[in-house]
Amino acid sequence: MRTQVGIIGAGPAGLLLSHLLARAGIDSVVLEARSRDYVERRVRAGVLEHPTVELLREVGLAERLDREGMPHDGISLRFDGGDHRIDFADLVGRGITVYGQQEVVKDLIAARLRDGGDLRFEVSDVTLDGLADAPVIGFTDADGQRQELRCDAVAGCDGFHGISRGTFEPQMFDREYPYAWLGILAKAAPTQHELAYANHPRGFALYSMRSPEITRLYLQVPPDTDAGAWSDARIWDELGVRLAADGFTLNEGPLIEKSVTGMRSVVAEPMRHGRLFLAGDAAHIVPPTGAKGMNLAIADVRVLAEALTDYLRRGDESGVDAYSDTCLRRVWRAEHFSWWMTSMLHVSPDTDPFARRLQLSQLHYTVTSRAAATSLAENYVGLPHGENR
Ligand code: APR
Ligand code: PHB
Repeated sequence: MRTQVGIIGAGPAGLLLSHLLARAGIDSVVLEARSRDYVERRVRAGVLEHPTVELLREVGLAERLDREGMPHDGISLRFDGGDHRIDFADLVGRGITVYGQQEVVKDLIAARLRDGGDLRFEVSDVTLDGLADAPVIGFTDADGQRQELRCDAVAGCDGFHGISRGTFEPQMFDREYPYAWLGILAKAAPTQHELAYANHPRGFALYSMRSPEITRLYLQVPPDTDAGAWSDARIWDELGVRLAADGFTLNEGPLIEKSVTGMRSVVAEPMRHGRLFLAGDAAHIVPPTGAKGMNLAIADVRVLAEALTDYLRRGDESGVDAYSDTCLRRVWRAEHFSWWMTSMLHVSPDTDPFARRLQLSQLHYTVTSRAAATSLAENYVGLPHGENR
């Protein structure tokens, strides 16, 4: 088999890359270890930055997003018993859209299949060879047949636990945090329209939602927590305590999902090795506090699609040569923002009284200074694509 770009992984990065390349007349094949059903159901974050939404609109992927996505003009920060709104619309004139990552994945798969895209699910034992000049991807297909896919370039969009990054030795930058998030989806109508990030002495909590019927909630927990050890009643009690604010009520309902996610910051440099290009979680991980994971993956593949198009159409290598540096500028901005939000909002045994005072000072400053609030707002809604900060 032959294609121009072999893409490993059918998450938001791999699928959107395939879509963008197809629009530019470039062929690709997407190889995914899991089943279609699995990737369409995997529950993850749900905040789309403004530039993400604009891009999805521009490339014909926003029909359902525009119908079902929930536009938000701000968030609130809750601490010291007060609730403080950060008004994105007023501060930066743009907002975010709440729309589940798996909904984006469903829309991308539907669009690729409608356009005759080649997506192979349930492949195994993916190998990469010839990355210096003539890449060959080996894999076992869903029927157990061994296959070889020759291509001009390989996109490693296989997430944090994929195999692409392991084919070379990028320099790794890493931070672990002494906590994790217990996330739940509840069949309960949200009682407020916007997200609330709470810093409470007992730990962080986040109030979010997926639809007018579904609330999404998170609690900071110790990193080795077993989700099963938290009964539904204990979860609701703890959420009630940490999210408490004047006039706020929590609607309880049956839990549809309960899971624990670790928190890490990781960056691999460079994001390219010969004809292999890493994109999305394969190259970097952020803690979920800044809601940047999927948005970064999308920003990467926008740059990559353009670079590969110039290279494969006209032999122009300037874009592929600049790919890693271009992406890493945005990646490190998001790494800093996510680390900053995470450190400001979580309270753990490592938070000594001095650190606690610093957190509260930073929170007070952020909600009272227009300059500080604008900094949070412009990072949260997403700096424009192509801007090098
Ligand atoms: N072979 C084929 N596919 C693989 C392999 C492999 N060896 N290893 C992993 N994959 C697949 C995974 O099953 C997954 O579907 O690669 C895909 C990677 O997708 P994501 O993890 O969604 O990563 P990405 O597309 O970069 O999107 C980043 O995902 O982790 C979330 O919240 C994070 O929002 C971020 C987003
Ligand atoms: C979510 O809705 O799942 C969500 C929202 C904001 C975050 C992280 C997750 O920062």
